[in-house]
Amino acid sequence: AIDISKLRAESGLITLDSGFKNTGSTASSITFLDGEKGILRYRGYAIEELAEKSSFLEVAHLLIYGELPTATELETLKGDVKKNQLVHEDVKTILAGFPSNAHPMGVLSSLATAQTAFFPESLDPNRAAEKVDITIRRLLAKLPTFVAWAHTKEAGMPPNYPDPSLDYVQNFLRMMFTVPGQEYEIDPIVTEALERILILHADHEQNCSTSTVRIVGSSQASLYASVAAGISALWGPLHGGANQAVIQMLEKIREDGGDVQKYIEKAKDKNDPFRLMGFGHRVYKNFDPRAKILKRNADEVLNKLGVTDPVLDIAKTLEETALKDEYFIERKLYPNVDFYSGIIMRAIGIPTVMFPVLFSMGRLPGWIAQWKEMREHKEPIGRPRQVYVGENLRPYVPVEKR
Ligand code: ACO
Repeated sequence: AIDISKLRAESGLITLDSGFKNTGSTASSITFLDGEKGILRYRGYAIEELAEKSSFLEVAHLLIYGELPTATELETLKGDVKKNQLVHEDVKTILAGFPSNAHPMGVLSSLATAQTAFFPESLDPNRAAEKVDITIRRLLAKLPTFVAWAHTKEAGMPPNYPDPSLDYVQNFLRMMFTVPGQEYEIDPIVTEALERILILHADHEQNCSTSTVRIVGSSQASLYASVAAGISALWGPLHGGANQAVIQMLEKIREDGGDVQKYIEKAKDKNDPFRLMGFGHRVYKNFDPRAKILKRNADEVLNKLGVTDPVLDIAKTLEETALKDEYFIERKLYPNVDFYSGIIMRAIGIPTVMFPVLFSMGRLPGWIAQWKEMREHKEPIGRPRQVYVGENLRPYVPVEKR
């Protein structure tokens, strides 16, 4: 085993902090997070208030430009989105090239980075701010189209074109769920539920995917390429893939007779790699404020839609049981945002495999805001150091003598 304290002592000025548990990578004025007190604010506004009163596009404006939009700014943003939500016809050719079982996160990441081919000017790191802003608005406008097309591809359906007469979230839902011969009927309960989920996911300071976006962008790679890297980082089950894993876990518990205690014991067993998905957070050590909002919301949305989901009951029992268990209390493990978001997304008809993809759509304004801030601050290229623990100098041995 590696003796970390010995290495620290020997490594001189290099700080070794694997997982960056105590290392700040930047100074940012976008999102405030207090993990002990369970506080989350975007640009100074409480997440609870934004989730209740704001729209996703307003929050996007707030994160990216620092202020809630005026009525005129909001109209301009909406207009720019509507103008840009159509994508180049050749994107359909790229989409057609994927095998039908391709995971939609891989499809989304590829389509995002492919934008550099359609808009090569985005590769120029020295463009004027107004030009960068066009790239930003294009991405905000087009990503929902890519997300919906990643879904229709996966579902074996033809892609639906955007409808500029609709709002951001309404248009997205229509592109997702319209099937040949049957126009999707927009339900305000569904629109509101999704809008809230997107707002709650919109930024979360220097998490794994956001740090990825910043570090890729720090090499002056284009916004499209940086966000594509963020999508890949979000894909993993310990980050954005957790919402998908939560539902799969809850379904398994249900199929297995609903014995919640058995799974809690499994999660506590150090010889078993199983973890309670949707539990624990690197920063929140008392509660995740987003999970609190979504727990209340899950009940409301399911009631309003008249959906009964046995998985919601299992989730509640699991939460209650775990929160009384010494193991979870000692380690301060609480449900995170993914624990309830999946239940709501399921109730509004979003397939499980699409959960992390929806998370990407929600996180997009945060990624853009963080990328923009990093560029405006003229931050240097991100380049962590290491502590070398490999072989010392040794002579080369020709292949016949090895
Ligand atoms: N189930 C069981 N035990 C857990 C869990 C869990 N979900 N999470 C953490 N632990 C235990 C660890 O085994 C460790 O125990 P030990 O001290 O006895 O070794 C202790 O709690 C601390 O855990 P770490 O893994 O060191 O905590 P870290 O901050 O590195 O990880 C993470 C946080 C990745 C979220 C972790 O809690 C986890 O794997 N959770 C499940 C996956 C999940 O829900 N991810 C979504 C994160 S939120 C988001 O991305 C939106």
